[in-house]
Amino acid sequence: MMPKHLIILLLTLSLALFPSSSSQPEPFATRLSCGARYNVRTKPTNTLWFSDFGYTGGRPANATRPSYISPPLKTLRYFPLSDGPENCYNINKVPNGHYSVRIFFGLVADPNFENEPLFEVSVEGTQINSLRSGWSSHDDESFTEALVIITDGSVSLCFHSTGHGDPAILSIEILQVDDKAYYFGPQQGQGIILRTSRRLNCGAMKPKFDQDYSGDPWGGDRFWNPIPTFGQSSDQAISTKNSIKQASVSPNFYPEILYQTALLSTDSQPDLSYTMYVDPNRNYSIWLHFAEIDPEVTGEGQRIFDILINGDIAFKDVDIIHMSGDRFTAIVLNVTVAVNGRTLTLTMHPTKGSQAIINAIEVFGVIIAESKTLLEEGIGGVLSDSSGQCIMSFSEMLEGDSSIIAEAQAIRSGLFLASNAGVQRLVLKSDAKALIDVINMNVTAVCEVVPLILDIKQLLSSFCHVSCQYIPWVLNREAHHLAKGALRVNVASVSGFVQ
Ligand SMILES: *[C@@H]1O[C@H](CO)[C@@H](O)[C@H](O)[C@H]1NC(C)=O
Ligand SMILES: *[C@@H]1O[C@H](CO)[C@@H](O)[C@H](O)[C@H]1NC(C)=O
Ligand SMILES: *[C@@H]1O[C@H](CO)[C@@H](O)[C@H](O)[C@H]1NC(C)=O
Ligand SMILES: *[C@@H]1O[C@H](CO)[C@@H](O)[C@H](O)[C@H]1NC(C)=O
Repeated sequence: MMPKHLIILLLTLSLALFPSSSSQPEPFATRLSCGARYNVRTKPTNTLWFSDFGYTGGRPANATRPSYISPPLKTLRYFPLSDGPENCYNINKVPNGHYSVRIFFGLVADPNFENEPLFEVSVEGTQINSLRSGWSSHDDESFTEALVIITDGSVSLCFHSTGHGDPAILSIEILQVDDKAYYFGPQQGQGIILRTSRRLNCGAMKPKFDQDYSGDPWGGDRFWNPIPTFGQSSDQAISTKNSIKQASVSPNFYPEILYQTALLSTDSQPDLSYTMYVDPNRNYSIWLHFAEIDPEVTGEGQRIFDILINGDIAFKDVDIIHMSGDRFTAIVLNVTVAVNGRTLTLTMHPTKGSQAIINAIEVFGVIIAESKTLLEEGIGGVLSDSSGQCIMSFSEMLEGDSSIIAEAQAIRSGLFLASNAGVQRLVLKSDAKALIDVINMNVTAVCEVVPLILDIKQLLSSFCHVSCQYIPWVLNREAHHLAKGALRVNVASVSGFVQ
């Protein structure tokens, strides 16, 4: 039963920058089983998936996994077009840092649903993927993954319907990685997203995730697609059981098993070549992995090759044993190239010895985050009783350009909440002095807030007793805190108070 007296409502709009958190000994990890009512654990790694939270809409449903590499979860969340074209997950309380964000797509287990929905995925407001028809029959297209820097304590993932079925999301993983992970040069930093295009474990037969092979959790539990051959009739897969030195090292902590297989070219076809399709007119960050595991090559100078990307030499005279210091020792080379066309071809071309080798390949699209010209604003409020006990609270994100509108929206939302809760006596407190003056003293408001003021006045008339007071910003901490929770970038919020 709602107390009838002395209800206090705090509303806030604040502007603040968030300090970045320092790195912790264990990486932060959150995994979400979309549509799930309870936490779930999955085999074989006993991974914990939280029950569904942070969604802006959509409906839970039973899921069909499109691929056997998808986590074995039984539910998903789908977003019918009637919920609007854009639907999101906003995951808050994520410590600032560098993250690998991975989203697995699902198929609704209902014959009435279009089998393979096509939609766009954005992370932190930047589109990173547009599903292509046929995605559900390719393992490495059953998810999308990107490396992002989080500076505001929350991750926002949105799904934009393209009119071909309802976006359906099976799971979301937010996995912290080293601050310097995949450092490819000075261009890297906030505002750059690395979208995983491909991760290949050359010469391997089975797909694997880092954690299936006790990979370091700071590696971000990468998925490695096996590639037993580049499709050249003459390349050959080799493998070793020897342990590999220098594999699981900072900043990327690759699993050792990655280097225990390789593809080798042959005397009859010395060039080892791999071609993939890419989105044109984009920069790609390419990471190439080597360890000399061939029993035929035992010392420096026995195998030397050039690495060409789309025909241009990216690395000249690569001698793995010379560069890594020993046999069975990992070395990683990275280079960023601009690609204008639709294909990316890597060629290992031997210059000494007649066979080239490669253990693994990673290709990332370098995506420049869409610039946010305006502050994003959040509003928040607290409804308390006379003793200061919180009864209810709210926070929401706005895309406004004027803080007075956001402040007015916060006051309106707070009044609406109190009115719906059956509150009769109310003191509204806000740190938006100009608005309190408009409400109390019948001074003229700027035109754009007039409709909101009219709403506010109407809501005020629904209480038996109401007064509106100004309180200084510093006394309105709780409401500011809530407003921040609703935000992604900087925070703006309105504040008020009700009694
Ligand atoms: C989902 O599956 C469970 C059994 O696994 C079933 O009881 C339930 O009715 C299904 N829900 C829907 C919406 O089909
Ligand atoms: C990637 O290559 C760049 C440019 O050569 C280099 O500065 C950077 O240290 C390399 N990154 C890693 C993690 O090795
Ligand atoms: C690729 O990188 C170069 C060098 O950092 C930059 O000047 C160029 O704008 C980038 N191109 C694209 C398409 O992002
Ligand atoms: C507010 O101002 C309007 C127009 O100036 C006037 O008609 C109205 O009576 C005023 N209301 C109060 C409560 O003073």
